[in-house]
Amino acid sequence: VREVKLSLFGFGNVGRAVAEVLLEKEALFREKYGLRFRVVSISDTSGTVWLPEGIDLREALMVKENFGKLSAWTSDYEVYNFTPEEAVREIDAHIIVDVTNDKNAHEWHLAALKDGKAVVTSNKPPLAFHYADLTEEAEKRDLPYLFEATVMAGTPIITLLREGILADSIEGMEAVLNATTTFILSQMEMGQDFERALKTAQRLGIAERDPSGDVLGIDAGYKATILHCLAFHPITFDDIAVKGIAEVTSGEVRRARERGRTIRLVAAVEKGKVVVEPREVPLGSPLAVESHENVAIMRTDLLGELVIKGAGAGLKETASGVVSDIIKASLHLREV
Ligand code: HSE
Repeated sequence: VREVKLSLFGFGNVGRAVAEVLLEKEALFREKYGLRFRVVSISDTSGTVWLPEGIDLREALMVKENFGKLSAWTSDYEVYNFTPEEAVREIDAHIIVDVTNDKNAHEWHLAALKDGKAVVTSNKPPLAFHYADLTEEAEKRDLPYLFEATVMAGTPIITLLREGILADSIEGMEAVLNATTTFILSQMEMGQDFERALKTAQRLGIAERDPSGDVLGIDAGYKATILHCLAFHPITFDDIAVKGIAEVTSGEVRRARERGRTIRLVAAVEKGKVVVEPREVPLGSPLAVESHENVAIMRTDLLGELVIKGAGAGLKETASGVVSDIIKASLHLREV
């Protein structure tokens, strides 16, 4: 059994879900993959706690529950005031796990790769703005840089595009990539107004901490940008056209329904052209997803049409993608 050391950045809802999966499935990961994971540090925006200095992951989850952010942990725990780059360099880990919302995380992802560490991330802006730099650096150093959970949570669309259909030329994709907007539009179909539907989405924890990114199409735009990078060539979020659902009215939603159609925030991805906008889709179309599901329809020259559909948001659903990447990175780092 190999021990793999993880440095966890972000201890909010997703970070805790990742910690819980690592604890709950410890025996399975040991038996099935011969791997034992040790979280050696946890960082949030308020500080870094070094786990070998007295506490283990199970205890960290309990302390988090009682005290909240790391800087509020009692004097029993030494909290270091590292910048993320310092934490990346100071802590002896094999894999850096980023489950933060840090928009500048590409800087410390690059620092980690340059320091010989693999990176697993569910954080989207680094990929949506710096895909080429990050993936080139990782390739140059033969280090895993994995980001399954950035698009469609644990539903493996990234793995499909990176490791499957390699002989196919992708002609285009249409996808529904944001659960919050699907939820709001569905609620509006049932007669709720926009504001109330948004509040419910926040309460259910599927919206981002700042839900404006969901409503304005930015979250779906980040994801569509990442899909374009994988299917075609690297671009950035600044190269795409995005319109969210803020202007969609209850009347429009109802009238669409009367015609056997539904409005969804659709990402259309073609070579050199990405558009995210509300579109009417027939109720029988795979794009007419409900609730927290995401879907992507791909058109390729050899396979024809391929549909991948599954959970696109949620805590354990996102942890599924993050932990899958942690396992994949660990299997790659054979000499660990
Ligand atoms: N807020 C996102 C969504 C979830 O609503 O789809 C994770 O990307």
